[in-house]
This record gives sequence, structure tokens and C-alpha cells, in this order.
Amino acid sequence: MNARDKNSTESPVVISSRADAGAPSVQAETIEAPTHPSTGSGRTALRAAGQSRFHESARAQVAGTATYIDDIPEVRGTLHAAPVCSPVAHGILRKLDASAALALPGVRAVIDAGDIPGDTTLAAFAHDEPVFALDTVMFTGQVIALVVADDVMTARRAARLVKLDIEPLPAVLNVHEAHALESYVLPPVQVSRGDAGAALKRAPHQLEGRFEVGGQEHFYLEGQVAYVLPLEQNQWWVYTSTQHPGEVQHWVSHALGIANNAVTVECRRMGGGFGGKETQAGHLAVWAAIAANQLKCPVKLRLDRDDDFMITGKRHPFAYHYRVGFDDSGLLCGLELEMLVNCGFSADLSGPVADRAIFHADNAYFLEDVAVASYRCKTNTQSHTAFRGFGGPQGVIVIERILSDIARTLDLDPLDVRLRNLYGITERNVTHYQMQVEDNVLEPLMTQLALTSGYRERREQIAAWNASSPVIKKGLALTPVKFGISFTATLFNQAGALVHVYTDGSVQVNHGGTEMGQGLNTKVAQIVADELGVPFERVLATASDTSKVPNASATAASSGTDLNGRAAQFAARHVRDNLAAFVAGLDGCGAGAVRFEGGQVITEKSTRRWEDVVGTAYANRIQLWSDGFYRTPKIHYDKTTLTGRPFYYFAYGAAVSEVAIDTLTGEYRVLKVDILHDVGHSINPAIDIGQIEGGFIQGMGWLTTEQLVWNGKGYLQTHAPSTYKIPATGDVPAHFKIELWPEANREDNVHGSKAVGEPPFMLAISVYEALRDAVAQAGGDALLVNAPATAEEVLQALCA
Ligand code: MTE
Ligand code: MOS
Repeated sequence: MNARDKNSTESPVVISSRADAGAPSVQAETIEAPTHPSTGSGRTALRAAGQSRFHESARAQVAGTATYIDDIPEVRGTLHAAPVCSPVAHGILRKLDASAALALPGVRAVIDAGDIPGDTTLAAFAHDEPVFALDTVMFTGQVIALVVADDVMTARRAARLVKLDIEPLPAVLNVHEAHALESYVLPPVQVSRGDAGAALKRAPHQLEGRFEVGGQEHFYLEGQVAYVLPLEQNQWWVYTSTQHPGEVQHWVSHALGIANNAVTVECRRMGGGFGGKETQAGHLAVWAAIAANQLKCPVKLRLDRDDDFMITGKRHPFAYHYRVGFDDSGLLCGLELEMLVNCGFSADLSGPVADRAIFHADNAYFLEDVAVASYRCKTNTQSHTAFRGFGGPQGVIVIERILSDIARTLDLDPLDVRLRNLYGITERNVTHYQMQVEDNVLEPLMTQLALTSGYRERREQIAAWNASSPVIKKGLALTPVKFGISFTATLFNQAGALVHVYTDGSVQVNHGGTEMGQGLNTKVAQIVADELGVPFERVLATASDTSKVPNASATAASSGTDLNGRAAQFAARHVRDNLAAFVAGLDGCGAGAVRFEGGQVITEKSTRRWEDVVGTAYANRIQLWSDGFYRTPKIHYDKTTLTGRPFYYFAYGAAVSEVAIDTLTGEYRVLKVDILHDVGHSINPAIDIGQIEGGFIQGMGWLTTEQLVWNGKGYLQTHAPSTYKIPATGDVPAHFKIELWPEANREDNVHGSKAVGEPPFMLAISVYEALRDAVAQAGGDALLVNAPATAEEVLQALCA
């Protein structure tokens, strides 16, 4: 009996990653993955799902042979484009003089709004964003025109020679100004329950506060890029690094004034998307397509990193004002919360992002009397967009901050105040948007994490340390996350897939999702392999392609595997059913008695090789390929009142972070992180743990060092890695331990799994709260620490 067989009869084992400094991280091929009782003992070794598998591209990525858009061999005659960007935040565009640019050898054309054959406004859902700036410019970095040249460096040089005559107008550069002017991209939204004002008045204690949380640059390793090829008869092929090929197809055809069916969009993989390529990949494809249409040549547009920073939107910065009431035990009694959302110059995805912030302002806690007001402020900055968590983090951080401050006010342990306010199981279990929380595991999960991480003892040790250490002070925090899974726009919760079985028994799967490093293709291939009972290695996931699966939703909201995994499972099941019926006919048994496992097709009478069954079935004219379609059940929600069941289920987790700050400089380190996270029954523990690690570290970057600084004129000064600091390997805590909660998803989701892409991002709020704890323990004012809690921010709070 091997370890896998043994585990399969016990409760699932927990996989730990970096338990201690120096210990290697998960080794995908060598770790023994947890198997689950639901997969049945004995057969588990034959199954792919539930096992850690290398990411399908890992070897190619390490060897440098995985193809990104800029690696695709260029077609003869390919031209290169570079953007001409506005140098001012707001102004009237009087004149564009391209003569100096056009005079440069190798420059072919300067393309602007006059060259757009279709709509000069992008097909974005709010229809409020020009393809190229028309008569006004709305932010520093806005694209006004493109220079097209024989090579990319010439195009970029020439772009800087274009002379712009812009008459400056007053610019709105922050949410406070915008709110005072009622400058909004979308109308304000209010969600409330009970009577927050009255509850607040009645409450024994009150707190009022304001704070700000910064945005975040996506910093995908592969920048935004599109390569557009004209085909015959006004048809187009678009290679692009996008999370949403269908939207790119839609936008390009809209701008070219042609039908959707004339445009095919392909994306094999992205070098990271993180939400930044959910809509904003579309701009590049549209720009390149307009140039390609004008010049009748293939055109590639790859942004320089600085231009990418200047042009594309980021995570929405938020400003908050709250008033909260509470009793002596820290129980919340009334919360009034105002969120000012910096949307930038256009709506983009700001509506649903700001909505998700409202939906997550409760995080794990029952808010009985609550009023949330959300203002979608229009400013003269980049149009902010999706970023891992999609507004959720900006909701969760408020309540976590408030609960810590309540605990400090009452001199209670913040963990006890958190536990006190958790959603209940049979009562106090309805959210402020009227959804019943049915799958809450937070109380046992947080209690277990507090135990395994030694939270209580460490609080005492840290208090003792701080009492005797004059300069270095430590802080500790345990924060949970509850994250709603599904697109809040119900219609996006659908997916399609195609499974092709070839006559040699090899399998291709294609689905509407996109691979951005998160391992979607690996998980989908595992699911298909199990459905057909073939080894994982027999299944190949192919590039996302609008001509294979149409009308696919963005790969976003962490739902890639939930949606596409199920669609692919259904497609594979159709093929299997065809084969089962065929084999049942041969063996004279029922189709239900035919088993597919371990590369074999088994009945009471016979055991055949999968390849042989496929070959014979083909010869007997059995269909060996199929489609599959899935839509998420149960969800519904009223867009006008923001009530209903927007989420199919919740993903849960909690993290304990310990930090040390240098009270002389404000510098700090994250020393220890312990995480217990709920991914349901993991389809691929190595990949899921990778997502938890990556999400956490990315969240830590958002709240610590990643500071976006716009100067007084609206110019983003931190537009390169020299000034914008994402976490480096050295910032990963030496103790970084991740465990998986063993329970399956209580909703019927593929293989009992739960989405993992975004929820762990919010676990990093424990780092922010640990820093504020350290500041308070050092005698500073934790209320003064805005996010990101840079060293300067910490030092200022210490000096208060
Ligand atoms: N992981 C990697 N490596 N690269 C990415 O770009 N994007 C995140 C997350 N994990 C991302 C990632 C975001 S924002 C989302 S919504 C999910 O992956 C999307 O993929 P999924 O739905 O398949 O989890
Ligand atoms: Mo993720 S922000 O939903 O692309």
C-alpha cells in the first residue's frame, strides 16, 4: 500500500509549503497529494484530479520555449506601433503635428481617430471611452495617436517627436475633489439594512475614522501586447495577451465596423493578467487593428513598461469615512460607511468593482444595522480596472481595520473581537445584501489556525519582547477572509468547452477560459483525463480561440475552473457516453456498467486499452468529440437594489502574520506567516498552494511597498520598477506555512473544489494589521497608518 492509498481512507492530509526558512517549497512531482474520500479508495492513484501535477507549461516556461505574443514568429511585412500619449491631465487638444515623426526614416504613418472605420468610442459597457482622444484629453498618458514604423524602436522614437498643442483645463486629481464636485463616472450606490444611525446612537461606544488605501499596478511580467494580422476579405486574426478574447473580438469588430464573425482572437497564455488584461488588453488590440486596417499590413503593438504604467488602469484607490458603534464586548452595533472610489476618467469595470467592495465590507462579520454609500469618482487619471479581488480587498480592509481599532479601544485581543462578530450558523447569518451564508467554516477554521500558529502564546511573547526591546517592536494579527464566488453579473456565469479525441487516443480540450499562469489549463486537463479515465499526459489543453468556443466570459472572478472545468467535464462525458454505449453493445451489458480508468475501458466481460476502443469506435463511425456547456445554478441578484444571491458559495481562509518594525526608521520585515485556507477538495494542491502563496505576497505588496504617486499635475511619477516596488524574493517571510482546509465545497462544484485565484490576496490584510499592531505597541498612533503602510507611513505614525 503506498502513501496515497493510505491517505485516501483517512481525512485528507494537509500539505504544508515552506514551513521554515530554507526548506524547499512544494515539489509538484514529489509531494504526496491529498486524496479525498469522495474519490474512492484504491482508484485514487489512477486519477489525475486531487493530485499535484506540474503546471502544463512549467517546463517550457523554465526553458524559455513557452510562446508569449512577442515570441510568435512575425509575418513578412509586419509593422510596429508606438503610442503618442497626452502629457497633460486634462485639456483641449488643439493640434497634432506629426511632421517631425513622419520625417524619420522607417516611419510609415501616424494613425489617429480620423482613421477609425467604425465607432470612435470603444465598445466598453458604459460606452464612455474614446478609442483615441478626440477633442479633449482626460489624463496624462491617454493615447492620442499611434506611430507605425518598420521597427519598434523607430516607432517609439518617432512617437516622442509628435508635437501636441493642448490647452490645459483644470484637472480633478483626487476623490475628495471629485466628490465635492459630484464628478462621478456612474451614479452613487447605497446599500443598507436596519437603522445604522439609531443603532450607533444607542451603542455604548463609538468610533469615527477616515483613511485611504492606495491603488496597485498589475506588473504582469508580460506587458500589454497585441499582434493583428489582416486575412482575406476584411477578416482579421488577433493575437493578444488577454483574459477575455471574446471582448477583444467584440471591441475590434466594433471599431472596424465589421461583424464579430470576421474577427478571430487567440491567446495561448498570458505572462500574468491579475485583472489588468480583463478589459485593458482590448485597447491595444483595437489600436493595432486600426493601424493594420489603414496600412493593410500586420501590426504589432507592445507597450514599453513605462508606457504600460502611464496608459493602463490599476487597482482602484479608495478613501473611507466611517462611524461605528459597539458594546463593551466589541460587538458591532451600527456602521455607517462611505467609500470614495477613484475610478479614473472612465467607467471601465468600476461599477462592478465598487459593488464588490460593498459586498465585501462585511467580510466575515454580521452587520446588523449598516449603511454603505459608494461614490464612483471620476478623476483625470488612468481608468482603474479589475485587479485580483476586484474591489473585494477594498471592502474587506475597512472592517478588519475597524475591528482592530475597536479591540484597541476596549483593550481586548483583536482576535476575540473578530470571533465575537463572526457570522452565525443558524442565526445572524444573512448578509447586508440579503444572502444567507450557508457554508460558513470560519469559527473552526480561525480557532484551528490560532492553535496551530500558537497565536495566543505569541501575543504574550510579543508583549514581553516589546516591553524589553527599545528599538525593534513586533506586531501580530490574525485576519480571516470570506470571498464570494461568481461574477456578480449573473450572465457571465456560463462557459463552454470542446473535447476532441483523436484516433490514436490522444485528447485535446479547448475551453473559453484563458491561462495566465494560474494553472487553469492544468486543472481542466486533469478533470478531462479523469472523465475519460486516461492518463493526464494524454490530454492537451489548446490556446483560447474565439473560433472554437464563442461568447466566452472573461477568465476572472476566480471562477475559471468552476466554469470551464465543468463545461470540459460535460464535453468529455458526452464522448465517454458515446464510447460506453458502443462498448456496451459489443459486450452485451448496460452502458452504465462500462468503466473508464487507468487508460482502460472495463466491463464484466472485457478489459480493453483506451486506444483500441477509440480506434474501433472511429471505424464504427462513433462521434469522438463533443461540446460541453455549464451555467452556475442558484444565483440571482437585483442590480438596482444590490440584493439577492450574487454568489454561488464563499471561499474562506485566515492568516496570522508577525512583523517587526524598526522604530527609528519605520522600516520593517514580515517575519512569520501561517495560513489556513479553504479550496474545498483541491484539484491540484501544488497549484492551489502556489496561488495562495502568490496571492498573499501580491496582497502584501499592495499594502506595504507598492506606492503609486501622482504629482500635483496628475503625472504618475512611479512608473517603473526603479520607483515602484513590488515584493522581491527576499520579502517572502522566512516562515511561510500554508495548510489547506480539508472539507469539500458544500455546493455541487467540480470535484468538490473551490475557487482559489483571488481569495488569498485578502489574507495579506493580516500583514497590514500586524504593522498597525506593532505601531500601537510601540506607542504610535495606528489610526494614522494608511495603506500602503510604507516605511514613511509607519514612521509618521510612530512620531505622532
Ligand atoms: N495567477 C497567476 N499566476 N497569474 C495571474 O494573472 N490572476 C488572478 C488569479 N491568479 C492570476 C493568477 C486573478 S485576478 C484571477 S480572477 C484568477 O487567477 C483567474 O483565474 P481562475 O479563475 O482560473 O482562478
Ligand atoms: Mo481577476 S481581478 O477577477 O481578473
